[in-house]
Amino acid sequence: MREKIICGLDVGSSKVCAVIAGHNPSEPELNIMGAGEQECPGLRHGVVVNIDNTCRAVSAAVEKAESAAQVKVKDVLVNVNGHHIEGHMQQGATKIPRSDREITEDDVERVINAARAVPLSSDKQIIHAIPLDYRVDSQGGVENPVGMEGSHLEVEVLLITGDSAPINNLDKCVTRAGFGIKNPTATILAPAQTVLAGEEKELGCAIVDIGAQTINIAIFVEGRISYIGQVDIGSDYITYDLAYGLRTSFSEAKRIKENCGSAVEDEVLEGDVQYVGVDGHTSRTAETRRINRIIRPRVDDIIEFISNEISKSGCKQLIPGGVILSGGGAQLRGMDRAVASKLEGFQVRTGRPRGLRGKAESVNAPKYATAVGLVEYAVNTNTGFAFQDMAASGRGGFWEKLKTWIEEMF
Ligand SMILES: Nc1ncnc2c1ncn2[C@@H]1O[C@H](COP(=O)(O)OP(=O)(O)OP(=O)(O)O)[C@@H](O)[C@H]1O
Ligand SMILES: [Mg+2]
Repeated sequence: MREKIICGLDVGSSKVCAVIAGHNPSEPELNIMGAGEQECPGLRHGVVVNIDNTCRAVSAAVEKAESAAQVKVKDVLVNVNGHHIEGHMQQGATKIPRSDREITEDDVERVINAARAVPLSSDKQIIHAIPLDYRVDSQGGVENPVGMEGSHLEVEVLLITGDSAPINNLDKCVTRAGFGIKNPTATILAPAQTVLAGEEKELGCAIVDIGAQTINIAIFVEGRISYIGQVDIGSDYITYDLAYGLRTSFSEAKRIKENCGSAVEDEVLEGDVQYVGVDGHTSRTAETRRINRIIRPRVDDIIEFISNEISKSGCKQLIPGGVILSGGGAQLRGMDRAVASKLEGFQVRTGRPRGLRGKAESVNAPKYATAVGLVEYAVNTNTGFAFQDMAASGRGGFWEKLKTWIEEMF
């Protein structure tokens, strides 16, 4: 069976990242074909504030991924982020009207639609309706009711809603860049697909994606997503503190943070750091210990937000599988240890995309979890729209074209 090609496009507050992957239903692992990344000055706290800048970054990121993968992309799977994204638990119920009382796919669709029928203001829309638990008559905990017998079907659904305007603006950026998109995926669902082990979800765990300007959290209990939350703070805040404290530019502070920063005292690198002052030419020096002293209070702030979200979820006692970190902010040296020491009693680990083949090394970091996870989400939920046919979209050389031409003839 031929591979289908899928492109995940993570439109983040600091960068756009495109990952092109091949999926063959007979192979459990995604084939990473190429990835491309481009800085993006077009978003704030996960929401588009400059369409032209975002559109340019989308084009550049996809072009880089296309040239690495040697294929041309038509459609992309994109994530939507921002404070406007909210999760709500809703119930739906329906009667099974037929005499044989066997539940069909239509009944399931009807009960989910009943759960979706909530009054929403005209500027909001439903992004996902994720069925969590079905009840057939008095029997709860039903995973798939199709084919079962019963007279009454109920469902509990996690509805994820968002504001229409930011969703439409994101759509504009991607379509103006020349790509087709379908419904976007709420950001946190993506890293959860690729970073978490099934056992962690079963046991109960939290995924925390620490981005540049947002932190997204999802909590899984007994294998099911039970809570989503978002806060408008991220790793860029550490960069701002360093720029302020060291009197340097944002880009220089970012370089210092990524190369020499540490979230914990005992992982501080030895020695001093050379950098350029805010005037752009004066050479300066800072001790790595001083850099660590600037970073730590902001890391504490970030962890407090994470802790508050976990408390707010009401699931604090239900996540023995621990806290799994993703996103570029999780790449700060010692971040997992800092989180573990403040969130007492929780196991903490840094997650990266799992179960990949091909050019897996090119996406083997926490910051690629969203882009890879978008592809995994599409595969696992059967969102077929963005799949492109490999041969039809292949740019690869003469033999590939000849193969396509012969296949088209017959
Ligand atoms: N090695 C590293 N050490 C420390 N910080 C890092 C490292 N690599 C990336 N970061 C930081 O991670 C942040 C970017 O993370 P990520 O790419 O996940 O964000 P994003 O998706 O663009 O933003 P958001 O999810 O908030 O919209 C930046 O602040 C960047 O400086
Ligand atoms: Mg992100």
